[in-house]
Amino acid sequence: PSVMSDELRKLLPPTSETVMTKPFPIRGERTIADCTTPHVIAMVGLPARGKTFISKKLARYLNWIGIATRVFNLGEYRRHATTAYKSHEFFRADNEEAMAIRNRCANQALHDSCDWLLSGLGSIAVFDATNSTHDRRQLIYDIVVKQHGFRLFFVESICDDPQIIEQNILEVKVSSPDYINMNTELVVRDFLQRIEHYEERYQPIDEVAESHLSFMKVYNAGKKVVVYNNEGHVESRIVYYLMNIHITPRTIYLTRHGESEHNLSGLIGGDSNLSPRGHQYARALASFISQQQIDGLRVWTSWMKRAIQTVADVKAPQERWKALNEIDAGHCEEMTYEQIKERFPEEFKARDLNKFAYRYPRGESYEDLVARLEPVIMELERQGNVLVVSHQAVLRCLFAYFLDKSADELPYLYVPLHTVIKLTPVAYGCKVEHIKLPIDAVDTHRPKPKIPGDVSEPGLDGLSGELVAPDGVGKVLIVGDDVATATSASNGNSGRADNTQ
Ligand code: ATP
Ligand code: F6P
Repeated sequence: PSVMSDELRKLLPPTSETVMTKPFPIRGERTIADCTTPHVIAMVGLPARGKTFISKKLARYLNWIGIATRVFNLGEYRRHATTAYKSHEFFRADNEEAMAIRNRCANQALHDSCDWLLSGLGSIAVFDATNSTHDRRQLIYDIVVKQHGFRLFFVESICDDPQIIEQNILEVKVSSPDYINMNTELVVRDFLQRIEHYEERYQPIDEVAESHLSFMKVYNAGKKVVVYNNEGHVESRIVYYLMNIHITPRTIYLTRHGESEHNLSGLIGGDSNLSPRGHQYARALASFISQQQIDGLRVWTSWMKRAIQTVADVKAPQERWKALNEIDAGHCEEMTYEQIKERFPEEFKARDLNKFAYRYPRGESYEDLVARLEPVIMELERQGNVLVVSHQAVLRCLFAYFLDKSADELPYLYVPLHTVIKLTPVAYGCKVEHIKLPIDAVDTHRPKPKIPGDVSEPGLDGLSGELVAPDGVGKVLIVGDDVATATSASNGNSGRADNTQ
């Protein structure tokens, strides 16, 4: 099997290179039974039906649970194969020259998807294109299933709600590379005409004529879901995930508990009370949350005293999740890093060598945490506004899901005490704001040491200095669009893409 040639590589968007060389999460022994058979997930649907949104989000989820996934977006191939986009005329069914280019791009993207799976770099390729005719889907079936023996699952998004479609155009198409410097009204008009050209030839998946296919259909952003010929564990997980996501605007707030007595003495784990400054944070958090006037807010905490004490004054319905408890350090619970190094030097070094996969003796690894947090993520996807109060390691895992961070980066993400992380879904990613409330706290972050097993001073990565309180409430550090782009880019696509070919 051929690994992607330089020629093919040139056709891909620039960010793809990062993805090809990025070490895909290798998540220890936790293998997923039938993921040994590579899968192609092929999107189906008219333009502006959320196919790219679904593709990127699904890829982020699958990568997070340890299944290496990559999106192949046909719009990117089309843009690389053509000069600047002129107008919807390109998409007319009777535009033969353009149709030839579109078919060539589709073949290319499909072959790249299969090559990538054959190379062993990944398990699931998401083919993000309109795939809106029987013939196209049959071609995909012939290549993916008959030629390569891979699994194939179609996800069709059907939407006849004009408000959703217009909103989608305004949210992502106006900023698409096809429409640089074009006035919004013209973009909407051109895009609606583009949709009309597709409608002329669109054939939704037909249960009778295409009964050999496995597929799911999502109607009006999840109002109704139909699943047909669903086979196997991976497909079931995909179906379940896509049934849980929604597009209603909302905000997720993440914070660690207030500073604890154990934090003050440098002990990890345990179930200690808040320190006096931790109690101050609890009060500041309650007033910050009430100032935000968050509609229908729910509060989730772990079962640990320091987390429960942190929300004592927050006025909103509260739920406790055992799954949100801090990583269990097993034999190393309630020790300092120095003590662990002294008593278990080999263990300490092993953790530095592969922090994600390392499991504490009689305790847990970050990889275990991700598995335990999957139901939390699933429920977060279903909910509206939620404040999650948890712990350093747990919040790193949740943060990594929202920001598409790799298994290598995850255990070193900086999640300081007394800081609220506000996540707001935008376009294909997430806007992130760090809000540091003005109460001092120790820094418990231990950066990756240059030499494994070295006990470095905490807080050496310089990030804590950036999050300073300026005005009584705290500095709002907006990472915003950069993060949205980074999120998408690590799925192999730029932040704003469309897949129309
Ligand atoms: P194109 O074919 O032009 O690439 P697309 O189908 O890939 O279009 P997206 O670019 O993904 O459409 O559209 C993104 C928008 O779709 C977002 O605003 C998102 O809120 C919305 N969206 C997400 N899921 C759905 C869905 N199931 N149905 C309709 N809209 C959705
Ligand atoms: O130090 C606070 C703490 O929440 C400990 O309870 C936990 O063991 C640790 O952080 C997790 O961070 P790391 O994985 O970097 O040791």
